[in-house]
Amino acid sequence: MTVIAIDGPSGVGKSSVSREVARRSGYGYLDTGAMYRAVVWLCLNRGTADPGDVVELVRGADLEISTDPDVAEVTIDGIDVTTEIREPEVSANAQIVSAVPEARTELIELQRQIIAAAAPGIVVEGRDITTVVAPEAEVRILMTADESVRIARRSKELHGSADAAAVQATRSQIVDRDAKDAQTTSFLTAADGVHTLDTTDIDFEQSVAAVMGLVEKAEHD
Ligand code: DC
Repeated sequence: MTVIAIDGPSGVGKSSVSREVARRSGYGYLDTGAMYRAVVWLCLNRGTADPGDVVELVRGADLEISTDPDVAEVTIDGIDVTTEIREPEVSANAQIVSAVPEARTELIELQRQIIAAAAPGIVVEGRDITTVVAPEAEVRILMTADESVRIARRSKELHGSADAAAVQATRSQIVDRDAKDAQTTSFLTAADGVHTLDTTDIDFEQSVAAVMGLVEKAEHD
């Protein structure tokens, strides 16, 4: 079993790179951010942001997530929330769940179960995968890119363009969220033994190739 752990901030391109690496390796793919988002959706749906309620909701929820890199499907209590979890309201309220330690513990436990059941390998991406969820992973990577590049990438993804208005709208979203997320998880600097992959000056294909190089090396070690 090979585990590829990839962390990094918003807009760095980790989801698209992780998914492609999973396809090329014949591995599964786990988007842990989608799990946080699904619980955020549930909390918004129940109209609560109270940490005690959040913990109760996450403990009682039946959360299912596809590990097929070609099928992005997330359901919570049988409701398909694949599209809804990408809404700006969910992104803006991510900390309702991610800042609650007991809620994280529950999600981390579920993530570890999914990883343990994966074969022959799995690419897992998030903010605390290299450090907390799977510190023993065969390959651990922190993807980084200069803030302006991340903003332009996310702006293109969200608005289909990186013109001045779209960039402005994206800037506050990703900068604010990363600053808040960084209070709970440490994903801005690489932990010991974690490879840093700076994608500021490289494109998608080169990023995938860099990760594949590390995966192939791990497979042969
Ligand atoms: O990667 P993303 O934007 O889909 O993540 C959604 C939110 O979940 C983000 O604000 C940070 C949080 N998150 C986390 O705290 N730990 C993870 N392993 C993954 C995501």
